[in-house]
Amino acid sequence: MNKSNKKLKLAIICSGGNSPGMNNAVIGFAKKCAQCNIDAYYFLWGYKGITNNDIHPCNLRYLEEFTNRGNTIIGSGRLPAFATDVNVRKKAVKNLKKNGIDCLLVVGGEGSYQGAYKLSQLGAKVIAIPATIDNDVNSTQYTIGFDTCLNQVSKLINDITDCFSSHDGINLIEIMGRACPDLTINTGIGSNIYMVTKYNILKTEDFIKIVKHCKSQGKRAINFVVTEKIYGTNNLPTLASIAKKIEATTGHMTRVTTIGYIQRGGTPSARDRLIANYLVDKAVDLAKQGIFNKAVGINNKQIVAIELKRAVTMKRKSHNRYLVNKFNKINLQ
Ligand code: F6P
Repeated sequence: MNKSNKKLKLAIICSGGNSPGMNNAVIGFAKKCAQCNIDAYYFLWGYKGITNNDIHPCNLRYLEEFTNRGNTIIGSGRLPAFATDVNVRKKAVKNLKKNGIDCLLVVGGEGSYQGAYKLSQLGAKVIAIPATIDNDVNSTQYTIGFDTCLNQVSKLINDITDCFSSHDGINLIEIMGRACPDLTINTGIGSNIYMVTKYNILKTEDFIKIVKHCKSQGKRAINFVVTEKIYGTNNLPTLASIAKKIEATTGHMTRVTTIGYIQRGGTPSARDRLIANYLVDKAVDLAKQGIFNKAVGINNKQIVAIELKRAVTMKRKSHNRYLVNKFNKINLQ
């Protein structure tokens, strides 16, 4: 019940790029609401669904069929107009009010958090839950989907290594992650390969030097995992042109693999399922207590909630740069 003794009515959306575990957040939400006698709804297709009033009651028996799927069954999406056009946001607030939604749970990444904050400035009550494969939400140490994606990428790199070790070859593997190097760093450390991030952009000569060094020690497949959106922009050569030069100089077959959207699919890992459940549990508890406009997240292995306003302006604390240098050195031994 809310303060006026009316039954609480909550809604959830998934927003931004899909990330495995979003389904588990939606199912966890529906379950928790059922247990707490709260009316639970979802809007299809993220913020777009709110502006189009595409609202549906949560049918737990239907939703739970998607526990093992890496998609989001309620759809997700990016809506640039939501950030730029206040009238679009006003329409969303009007629809939330019209449907009597006491609080909207937004499951998504940094851009979705900005949208949630802007909605709160117009009077809507919101709670943000971090979900993106990139792990780039500054107010939390973990985002739903990161673990699944890391496992997907690591598995694909195993397979690529099988191929390139058969040819004494070199592979430049570009992975998603936007501006955030977390996926690259965790892949590099876990798969024992050289990582290239915004912290250590290599020149073509640097790649060649590393290849020559590793080949002189008898290494077969040499993989580099590279964060997307670095090469081919900011006056840097493309990875394809770097690969050609490596091959011409060293004589070893050199190719580029862009992993792309495969890394955003796949059965959600146990870790992502659990964390999705813990985070929505916290979010619904907050709404039950009449506490809104918060961002839930993970800090030092604890589920925490902070003011949404603070969350959207936080800078990231990180030891990434240190990790890149330390493990790249180890990988060159
Ligand atoms: O945020 C998730 C993500 O997969 C990023 O890693 C990537 O840069 C982006 O989304 C790609 O999605 P889109 O094609 O929608 O920009």
